[in-house]
Amino acid sequence: MTNYLFGNEWLWTDFYDDPDFIINAYKDWVSDKVKNEVVLPFISMHHSTRKMVEYFVDALIERGITVRQFDLVVTDIGKLAVSLVDAATIVLGSPTVLTGAHPKVTYAAILANALRPKTKFASIIGSYGWGGKMVEQITGLISNLRVELLEPVIAKGYPKDNDFIALDRLADEILTKHKELKVTE
Ligand SMILES: Cc1cc2nc3c(=O)[nH]c(=O)nc-3n(C[C@H](O)[C@H](O)[C@H](O)COP(=O)(O)O)c2cc1C
Repeated sequence: MTNYLFGNEWLWTDFYDDPDFIINAYKDWVSDKVKNEVVLPFISMHHSTRKMVEYFVDALIERGITVRQFDLVVTDIGKLAVSLVDAATIVLGSPTVLTGAHPKVTYAAILANALRPKTKFASIIGSYGWGGKMVEQITGLISNLRVELLEPVIAKGYPKDNDFIALDRLADEILTKHKELKVTE
């Protein structure tokens, strides 16, 4: 018997004896089916984006959406890649750094773009101090993804009431889009 590391799990089986296992996984990967999930890779230097992520995660969970959040300071990029396989939506969280996104977020965006998952919707949340092109940069980096871009939520500094309202609106929009795809049933 051979042992395989599959994602995070050791499989105590031999694919040669069970070809359906890998064939079914492949069928799933190449299908159009996505799950009622949001993948949320983010980073925060001074807690502004982090506060937005915390609020947004709660808002999504309240709406019955599964969230897989990845703090890019400590993320195993393999786990991020696996979670991207069938999530309906990806939301990237970034502060503005030297007029663009944080380098760790650009890395996650490039990875997602290279993997070309089935993801249907994308958005960006984050924070800035005085100005820049963070949203434009991230959007450009994920140009391979065939996604509908939902209105980003970018706060000036630490998020305020209007930013939380915008995050609730984004969570509502994601729920509506997932319902249209019938992935919430
Ligand atoms: C090294 C560094 C570079 C920054 N560059 C920019 C910038 O180019 N444009 C801008 O609007 N804000 C810039 N800022 C300000 C941050 O975007 C702002 O403080 C933001 O609220 C930080 O979000 P965070 O708390 O999630 O890290 C910079 C901050 C740091 C520490």
